[in-house]
Amino acid sequence: MRIVIITGASGGLGAEFARRLDRLNILCGWGIEEFWLIARSGEKLRAVAGTLRTPARPLALDLTDGASFSLLRAMLRAQAPEVWMVVNAAGAGVIGGPEEISDEAAGRMIDLNVKAPVRLDKLALPHIPRGGRIVEVASTAAFQPFPYLNVYAAGKAFLYRYARALGRELRGRGISVTAVCPYWVKDTGFIGKAQAGPGGGKVRHFPFASAEKAVVRAALEDVLRRKPVSTPGPVCTLHRAAAKVLPEGLLMDVWEILRKI
Ligand SMILES: NC(=O)c1ccc[n+]([C@@H]2O[C@H](COP(=O)([O-])OP(=O)(O)OC[C@H]3O[C@@H](n4cnc5c(N)ncnc54)[C@H](OP(=O)(O)O)[C@@H]3O)[C@@H](O)[C@H]2O)c1
Repeated sequence: MRIVIITGASGGLGAEFARRLDRLNILCGWGIEEFWLIARSGEKLRAVAGTLRTPARPLALDLTDGASFSLLRAMLRAQAPEVWMVVNAAGAGVIGGPEEISDEAAGRMIDLNVKAPVRLDKLALPHIPRGGRIVEVASTAAFQPFPYLNVYAAGKAFLYRYARALGRELRGRGISVTAVCPYWVKDTGFIGKAQAGPGGGKVRHFPFASAEKAVVRAALEDVLRRKPVSTPGPVCTLHRAAAKVLPEGLLMDVWEILRKI
């Protein structure tokens, strides 16, 4: 059985990846037989699954909980599917200073944004055939340090570098890894949740934010071309270029102005 595993599939970018891959699967005859859709909300996953023409299995799992990976390992062992693509889109950020973000919230960000994709890739890899793909939804936050998003941005920097090195390691096996690095996306749940804590007001403005559909369309084109890095939009492309040449101190000064506007 040929499957695609998508985390964060109950909404936002993950759900849009599912819808777009489903359309392409039907149009192009890719032979994907099932989507495994992962997030905590079973109800939202079932709603997304109901919009797809390819069969989809909603898996209500918390990816900060080790038991979720035990269950996934057992499912992969029992069903021995061919995992044609893994999309690690589950992620969350909390805005705030060091006293405003609890130990628990910081730990959850690390578990979800950093540990979960590494763990899922390790489980899926034995099942990914030559020609398969891994997608890590990182962020432009990977390109520089972001005060008041420090744990989130450091986690995305980890994910970006991990993805690039993993891609090299897997090149000989014909498996590509793409780090997708969007700038702010305005129509997903991310920004509202990131602002919900006591430090949420530290970032007031999200200028030049893009839209979920355009981000996923551009990202998927890059994934299909096996690009190691996808900057799906002009702002994230410019940010990546600027971060290569400007000192981090200056980039943080610009961020200080932008976040207070
Ligand atoms: N939106 C932006 O501005 C932006 C910019 C750059 C990068 N990104 C990245 O894009 C990815 C997708 O974000 P989004 O914008 O689509 O946000 P979103 O709409 O909030 O979606 C996040 C997804 O992650 C799932 N999730 C959250 N906690 C989870 C957990 N503990 N276990 C399993 N699933 C969990 C959520 O489902 P449940 O709540 O049902 O679990 C949801 O499906 C994230 O990695 C984010 O860091 C977003």
